[in-house]
Amino acid sequence: MPDANPTPRHVAIIMDGNGRWAKARGLPRLEGHKAGAETVRRVMRAAKKFGVEYLTLYAFSVENWSRPPAEIRGLMRLLRFFLKRNEKEFHDNKVRMRVMGRRSDLPASADKALAEVEAATAHYTEGQLILCLSYGGRTEIAAAARALAEDAAAGRLDPAAIDEKALASRLYLPDVPDPDLIVRTSGEERLSNFLLWQAAYAEFHFTPVAWPDFGEDDFRAALDAYARRHRRYGGL
Ligand code: IPE
Ligand code: IPE
Ligand code: MG
Repeated sequence: MPDANPTPRHVAIIMDGNGRWAKARGLPRLEGHKAGAETVRRVMRAAKKFGVEYLTLYAFSVENWSRPPAEIRGLMRLLRFFLKRNEKEFHDNKVRMRVMGRRSDLPASADKALAEVEAATAHYTEGQLILCLSYGGRTEIAAAARALAEDAAAGRLDPAAIDEKALASRLYLPDVPDPDLIVRTSGEERLSNFLLWQAAYAEFHFTPVAWPDFGEDDFRAALDAYARRHRRYGGL
């Protein structure tokens, strides 16, 4: 039987299991995050190799601010290191890097480093890497609702004209197509507030592999699973 689906245009990944990976090795949690940052590089290359145009990575949720300050500081430092280490990779592959999330929450140094890479890669069209930072699906939808209310209150928008398209156009990155495939590593099978609006018709793939161990073969296995799905969108 031929594959039911071509390669997904947009794959979104909930990168989970760094802490447990480290703990199982008797290492501090931050070592798991460091290993996880290396996985990101591997997966970016795999996405390019397999022809995935958009790769969205859930790196830090709005709920993750409740973690111990030392872990948060370590993650923000690691983010700056990741950007430095991978900037050449973005340029070599003509990949546009973008951020989605409540970025005013981020430390100024991290936000600045992100903005620089975003500006330097904004003209690339070969693919996009979208980093979700201080991201929450409910936060994103609430902000879009607020934007609608502001437009209506200012007389720019007729409340009767508010539809799905009007709300979607006020999400963080309205030009990005919805994810075709959402992958979560480390055995958890939940969304944890990820892409609540955009995931309406996504396919899901859960793997027990912890994020630091996730490799090209695991990425291919997710794409293979996706290829066998039958997407019906409510039709027949
Ligand atoms: C995912 O790994 C990375 C972040 C959420 C920042 P975790 O840190 O959640 O790892 P576990 O789930 O505790 O193993
Ligand atoms: C989801 O992982 C967030 C990210 C991967 C950034 P968590 O580890 O924070 O999610 P829960 O707490 O297990 O639901
Ligand atoms: Mg986790």
